[in-house]
Amino acid sequence: MEEYDDTTYGQRIFEVYDELYSEFDSESIKLLTDLAGDGPALELGIGTGRIALPLLENGINVQGIDASEAMLSRLRSKKGGNEIDVLIGSFADFEIGRQFRLIYVAFNTFFALLTQEEQVQCFQSVSEHLSPDGVFVIEAFVPDMGRFDAAHQTVRAVSVSESLVQLDVSQHDPVNQQVISQHVQLTGEGNRLYPVKLRYAWPSELDLMAKIANLRLRHRWSSWSQGQFTRDSIKHISVYGH
Ligand SMILES: C[S@@+](CC[C@H](N)C(=O)[O-])C[C@H]1O[C@@H](n2cnc3c(N)ncnc32)[C@H](O)[C@@H]1O
Repeated sequence: MEEYDDTTYGQRIFEVYDELYSEFDSESIKLLTDLAGDGPALELGIGTGRIALPLLENGINVQGIDASEAMLSRLRSKKGGNEIDVLIGSFADFEIGRQFRLIYVAFNTFFALLTQEEQVQCFQSVSEHLSPDGVFVIEAFVPDMGRFDAAHQTVRAVSVSESLVQLDVSQHDPVNQQVISQHVQLTGEGNRLYPVKLRYAWPSELDLMAKIANLRLRHRWSSWSQGQFTRDSIKHISVYGH
């Protein structure tokens, strides 16, 4: 694979992103709207606006950060997209000059920061931009090493039909806590590759990063509908504040 950087994911997937991920939990909009209060809100990795646009419709003043011009052009092409102020660049280290009641990063996007250093830096930037009563919300998976075989890899057939085969192919680097994956689409006309690289962290590591940035965990739920987080939870919604 060519050099993977902050822009690669969005630049490669933007055309099919909304189609691939059209379904999402509408409870996320309810909870984020409640947590935003009078706003304003900031989304890290805003992408095509899947979450930000419904928040805007609910009257929340939303801003965003994203590294991918292509994802942002999709956002701007949608109703309300031009009303959202967006900073182009990495959300590891940002300076916006205002404070937010809600900062959120959904759909495992926090793990797009590929080193522990960048992830800590992100918590610090967030801490500096949160109002005294503000909250930082992370939606992320709980790492599951059982997904990988003894050679640290996995291949999953997502769908198989006469004309299209979709595979998820991943390799795991346990030393750097990184996973490199390709969503592969095979057809008679040609093949498409959608790469994604992540650095995962356990909830406890995120809590420690928060502490370094003078934030503390307020809530941890297993779902946007605030289900109890247990040892069987596969994801978490974590809420941090000052
Ligand atoms: C999985 S998408 C999520 C988009 C949106 N939050 C949603 O839930 O639909 C991840 C987004 O994060 C952006 N991204 C990845 N790494 C980034 C970085 N280091 N800084 C800023 N944006 C980044 C990508 O361009 C992409 O738009």
